[in-house]
Amino acid sequence: MANDASAVSDAPSSAVSNSPLADPFSPPADSSLWRKNFLLGAATASYQIEGAVDEDGRLPSIWDTFSATPGKVLAGDTGAVACDHYHRWEADIDMLASLGLEGYRLSIAWPRVMDAAGRPNRKGLDFYKRLLNRLKEKGITSFVTLYHWDLPQHLEDRGGWLNRDTAYRFADYADLMSRELAGTVDAWATLNEPWCSAYLGYGNGHHAPGLANDRFATQAMHHLLLAHGLAIPVLRGNDPASQKGIVANIGRGTANSDSAADQRAAHLFEVQHNAWILDPLLKGEYPLDLFELWPGTEPLVLDGDMQTIAAPLDFLGINYYFRTNVASDGAHGFRDVPLEGVERTQMGWEVYPDGLRDLLTGFKKTYRNLPPIYITENGMASDDKVIDGHVDDAQRISFLKRHLAAVDQAIKAGVDVRGYFLWSLMDNFEWAFGYERRFGVVHVDYSTQKRTVKRSAELVAKFLKERKAKV
Ligand code: FCB
Repeated sequence: MANDASAVSDAPSSAVSNSPLADPFSPPADSSLWRKNFLLGAATASYQIEGAVDEDGRLPSIWDTFSATPGKVLAGDTGAVACDHYHRWEADIDMLASLGLEGYRLSIAWPRVMDAAGRPNRKGLDFYKRLLNRLKEKGITSFVTLYHWDLPQHLEDRGGWLNRDTAYRFADYADLMSRELAGTVDAWATLNEPWCSAYLGYGNGHHAPGLANDRFATQAMHHLLLAHGLAIPVLRGNDPASQKGIVANIGRGTANSDSAADQRAAHLFEVQHNAWILDPLLKGEYPLDLFELWPGTEPLVLDGDMQTIAAPLDFLGINYYFRTNVASDGAHGFRDVPLEGVERTQMGWEVYPDGLRDLLTGFKKTYRNLPPIYITENGMASDDKVIDGHVDDAQRISFLKRHLAAVDQAIKAGVDVRGYFLWSLMDNFEWAFGYERRFGVVHVDYSTQKRTVKRSAELVAKFLKERKAKV
């Protein structure tokens, strides 16, 4: 069916102006969000939206392999078509622009732009050049992630992130991208959420490539962070005007009781989710407590690696979704103790905006060299339905409002937060959960590819319009 995105391109303003409801999103007058230099955008990732997995020389990625393996992804869904963004990108960018969003965080599919011998694939590169040029024309700030989990399968066949060589191949890939795309990218992020790549991919097997061993997780993490550290100076050399950083998911762990054992469990939870990544990046060392949690899993670290990993950053991207309440497991670790009677999303994740504020203010205390922060993902899944051409995603509106208030509180407490990207621009392939979980502020009907702007996006658009008009 034809691309229907054009049909919604003027929806935000018309739908908003006709709305009889009070605005449940708009931040209070004293919120830092009203500052015009606070970047408000939306995020996506290549494998989750592009589709076209066999087109124009794209090679298979670990997610093609993983999602084609029975039992790995809910309902057997794959990213083969996804939002068909590879073909519909122009209308999607029009939609983004029509919402007044000022920033767009996207990722490049490594297997689309380089062949197995490391040579550029022109057709794949041209896709991203066109896209980035269009964003520039529209005045939209681009945040480009180099690695949002779609490792070329040929590299996994040689050990993937367990093989130190993959870090050097990543630096080659960063070199090619920054030579080709210099001047069109405002900010480069090397990796998205190394915790997920290392732990879910190699530690418990919930994500591609599906391996499950704590020792693998720590070694994969080391090679991921090394890849990041090797890429930073390469990006600086090729594209000096842009910002360089990395995106980490962070987790808030709260203790189920005041007991010392439960407090320790919460501490270990945060070591595993936060310090495991942020300490090497910002202090040049792994947290020793990690190896109390996972005894005997110390990775092989060569001389100079930690200095490479701790290369100075222009920004730190933070992805935040929920908190986890934990108790001691009676040994070295923690166990989840889900709280009763709390608000949850379609993912079952607890809605807990204070966690975002507490983590941000905590990082400021822990890391004296904490770089400026962008919230590079925040959002929620709900089982949204189009009714009479509209999607009333009331829980998401309230979720976003409360999380943006938490960001404002962190800013007022002195944390340098410069922007916020909604996850996600549109519903998409949610990894192991396939298409069932809808995170978009734009609804996608996967049978027709019709996009429908949800009420949350209308209200964000309304706010941005008002902010722009303010003198
Ligand atoms: C993050 C991922 C992103 C999306 C959200 C819901 O962990 O970076 O791709 O799946 O979760």
